[in-house]
Parts: sequence; C-alpha cells; structure tokens
Amino acid sequence: MEKRALDGDIKKVLYSEEAIRAKVKEIGAEICRDYRNRKVLMVGILNGCFPFIADLVRAIDAPIEVDFMSVSSYGGGMQSSGVVRILKDLNKTIVGRHVLLVEDIIDTGLTGRYLLENLQTRHPASLEVCSLLDKRDARAEEVPIRYVGFDCPLEFVVGYGLDYDGLYRNLPYIGVLKEEVYTHR
Ligand code: PRP
Repeated sequence: MEKRALDGDIKKVLYSEEAIRAKVKEIGAEICRDYRNRKVLMVGILNGCFPFIADLVRAIDAPIEVDFMSVSSYGGGMQSSGVVRILKDLNKTIVGRHVLLVEDIIDTGLTGRYLLENLQTRHPASLEVCSLLDKRDARAEEVPIRYVGFDCPLEFVVGYGLDYDGLYRNLPYIGVLKEEVYTHR
C-alpha cells in the first residue's frame, strides 16, 4: 500500500482498508437478510459515522432510508464529558419505523444509551444499533449492539471516521495514534 502523509502519526494499523471493506460487506448482507420484510431507516450518528454509513448503505441491496443526527459528548478532547448534546436532530418522525442506529464506535456507551432512550420515546416499531467498533472494556453504560464490526482494544483509535481533535477521519484504515501526537499538543 502507498505511504500516506498521515501514516507517520499512527503507531499500528488495527483494521486495514481491506479488512474494513470485507466486514462492511458482511454486515450489509446480514442487515439485508434481517430486514428483508421491513424497510429499515438507517440513522447515522455524525460526525464519526460518515465513511462507515456511506459504505454500509452501498452494501445493502434493498430499499432503505437514511437520516442523520449529530451529537457530541467528547467536545474535541479524548475523554467523554458525560454530557450528550443533540446538535442536529432527525429530519423526520420515526413513529412506526424500523430504526437502525449506525455508529463508528461504542466506547463508554454513554452516547448510545442516551440515543436509545431518546429515540425510544418517539415510538419506533423497532430500534437496533450497528457499530463498526465495540470498545467493550470501556463500557460504563450497557448498550445492546445488534451488529458489531470489530471488538476494539482499549487504545486511542483514529481513522475511517474516528478523529483526534477533528483530524484523521480521512484515513482509509483504523489505527492507534502515537502517544506523542496527543501529549505534545
Ligand atoms: C464518538 C462516536 C460515538 C461516541 C461513542 O463521537 O462517534 O458517537 O463517541 O462514545 P461513548 O460510547 O463513550 O459515548 P464523538 O462524540 O467523538 O463525536 P464525533 O462522532 O463527531 O467524532
């Protein structure tokens, strides 16, 4: 693979572009099977979800709809602030809809838990979660994840939508950020 300018900040690659592509295809096929008699509304949680949901919807060969929410709990830093804010809500009502939340990562579970509770009050017909990464060992709040891409170790991961201070979302793979990158800033 060709060397990229951002590669120098990455300690190690956890999930390569090829591994992600294969996994997304697998999840897409699973979603397609599970929702074959129900039209799914995929709700992407911005900003981190954007590469994942863009690839995932193209791995689903069925009629689907897509909407987005933007929430923030990290405020640009590395620790969850504990407060989830809705920055952009859904465009449409989800009453009676089969909703699938699409996340890049479930970490402490705080964002996912808040979103599930919030969306449940809007009376969807069903509500499930799909997350590319599951950082299970960091969990503070339980979040049932119906579709998981990879179990993620307790490392600071960036790429494929995941950021540090707004950067690295455009890496085509997911890797661990070198400590000196965030300690020297
Ligand atoms: C990330 C990620 C999830 C959340 C998961 O979003 O996209 O929404 O953190 O963390 P948690 O399980 O500890 O709540 P972030 O708030 O960093 O915003 P971003 O998607 O814009 O990067």
